[in-house]
Amino acid sequence: MRTGFLQYDVVFGDKEANQKKILSLIGGDHFDLLVLPELALTGYFMPSRAKTGELAEEFATGETFEFFRNVARQHDGAIVFGFAERASDKVYNSAALACPDGTAYLYRKTHLFNLEKHWFDPGDTGFRVFEFRGARIGIMICFDWLFPESARTLMLRGADIICHPSNLVLPYCQDAMITRCLENRVFAITCNRTGMERQGGETLAFTGRSQVVGPRGEVLAGSDGTSEKLVLLDLDPAVARDKTVTPHNDLLGDRRNDSYCC
Ligand code: ACM
Repeated sequence: MRTGFLQYDVVFGDKEANQKKILSLIGGDHFDLLVLPELALTGYFMPSRAKTGELAEEFATGETFEFFRNVARQHDGAIVFGFAERASDKVYNSAALACPDGTAYLYRKTHLFNLEKHWFDPGDTGFRVFEFRGARIGIMICFDWLFPESARTLMLRGADIICHPSNLVLPYCQDAMITRCLENRVFAITCNRTGMERQGGETLAFTGRSQVVGPRGEVLAGSDGTSEKLVLLDLDPAVARDKTVTPHNDLLGDRRNDSYCC
């Protein structure tokens, strides 16, 4: 399965400019599964909840979905991307999996980071796993990384590959994801953005360093902190189904629910 990430600097509030950039960076390359950043077309640093609502769109309708469905169809591959989602009076920090046949699946960010608590409502979907071309694909968004339960829940629900759209500003996630993969024996594709955004007197600097990590904690591919680029590699999702650690240890079989708190 040809998978990877598209790392770029998102232009705040300009969906059209971001669409153009995405098309030019993808070019004619083939992929089966491609991960883009959190809030891939809108940008991150919202001035207000009202602006977030203005940039938000309903799931599976509107220009963002039309764009990503077209890209998925033209490249015959699935795309995971973050978007601001409007659903009646709520606004979620969400991610979708858009498939080439037009099917779309939804995840709403569970753990909101810092000022996101002013801009978004907490996600209510829980962690979900979707099937595409024989791979079981789980989704979590950015700050979900700090809660080991996110990746663990996805693994227990059968995920082979965790797609992880991100807008990271703290320096710890890339290292932590190595542990998340190792402790769950899964692949993870963390797609982070680059660049900076300013609101009032405050600046957020996004750290790039997107990466693909394998079930033994190996970094299979990565990027630097500033490049805008597409990175693709071949991986076999079935490798993540072997949870054997030693001849006497199995990651699932050795769990001790009687010793854990909830
Ligand atoms: C984050 O969750 N965007 C840091």
